[in-house]
Amino acid sequence: MMTTTKHLLITGGAGFIGSHLVRLLVNKYPDYQIYNLDALTYAGNLENLKDVEQAPHLHFIKGDITDRDFLRDLFARQAFDGIIHLAAESHVDRSITGPMAFVVTNVIGTVNLLEAAKEQWAGQFDGKRFYHVSTDEVYGSLGETGFFTEETAYDPRSPYSASKASSDHFVRAYHHTYGLPVVISNCSNNYGPFQFPEKLLPLMIHNIRQRKPLPVYGDGQYTRDWLWVIDHAEAIDRIYHDGVNGETYNIGGNNEWKNIDLVHLLCATMDRLLDRPAGDSASLITFVKDRPGHDRRYAIDAGKLKRELGWEPLVQMQEGLERTARWYLENQEWLEHVTSGNYQKYYQEQYASR
Ligand code: NAD
Ligand code: DAU
Repeated sequence: MMTTTKHLLITGGAGFIGSHLVRLLVNKYPDYQIYNLDALTYAGNLENLKDVEQAPHLHFIKGDITDRDFLRDLFARQAFDGIIHLAAESHVDRSITGPMAFVVTNVIGTVNLLEAAKEQWAGQFDGKRFYHVSTDEVYGSLGETGFFTEETAYDPRSPYSASKASSDHFVRAYHHTYGLPVVISNCSNNYGPFQFPEKLLPLMIHNIRQRKPLPVYGDGQYTRDWLWVIDHAEAIDRIYHDGVNGETYNIGGNNEWKNIDLVHLLCATMDRLLDRPAGDSASLITFVKDRPGHDRRYAIDAGKLKRELGWEPLVQMQEGLERTARWYLENQEWLEHVTSGNYQKYYQEQYASR
């Protein structure tokens, strides 16, 4: 274990993956002081952290990484040994209708944080680490075969993936130019509790429950590699503590599904959980207009992470999907809160024209 963390800053810890990571770290490292910095955008929600919010070593800081003055003040007040950076605009469809927010948060926000870390650490990098959490989408789109490795050339094709690729480049540039101790991971599609219902699985679960149409983009033959979100949080923990500075690690579930097959599996699971006749939910499937520039297939080779740091995904799809579906059914209040207000407007604009 190379870091000597005492004060750990996590950005985006009120979001989907960030909240699972915060929970894991709060429970696992009672001797760390953990600072969760989050702007609480539409995607950030402190309800995601209710079960750990009283922990004396967890501190919430409301703030925006695009605000340099705020970051300067924060870093002047508090020294950090490590930073795990997850805060981002994360939804591809929103990046298509409004790319600028992705440039501002994902690129400028990341550079602001790199600057703040560089200034605070001032060349004293022993035991320090800047961890940038990124996506497999930076590698572009695969054909029927093959996998993304850490050597695959970047080929981002949506405004979201272009902004994440750009932020990855800046993180590497700060390592090469200033010696900043960085690690990057690029992960595949996560699923599990607390995911905002703009993403495929929670959106479908929400619609199935309400017997609304299930909008499958294009021919439904697009392929994603799905990973249980807590497996991702465990991988981040492993890489943060044991990864090598300057290195990149791919994280994936080795679990490819065509969208239409996954939606059918979800429908069958929901029919069972809701005590509906077989085929009931699947009758709601509706093929709609495709996502512009839709990447055909993502698949991750996570061999390096297994070989070098001994990480492997633990939760199988059938089990993870059932746990996810049950969680949403048992947490209607959470779903009602996040789907009130602006969500209705988003849904209308995103799906009415399809
Ligand atoms: P999310 O959209 O659920 O959460 C993002 C969080 O960042 C929210 O809490 C939001 O309030 C916060 N945030 C946004 N803008 C901010 C700003 N300017 N300042 C401070 N906080 C801000 O995202 P997620 O799905 O949990 O993804 C987290 C990270 O992991 C992102 O960097 C994303 O690119 C990456 N990632 C996601 C997936 C996935 O499948 N969801 C897969 C691979 C990588
Ligand atoms: O691969 C990692 C990425 O996975 C992360 O970096 C992103 O933050 C995350 O949002 C996710 O991106 P995707 O675009 O793959 O996820 P999404 O859930 O939006 O879509 C999954 C697939 O389902 C994709 O092929 C589009 C399709 N889809 C999605 C929605 C919302 C539909 O067919 N219908 C829908 O309504």
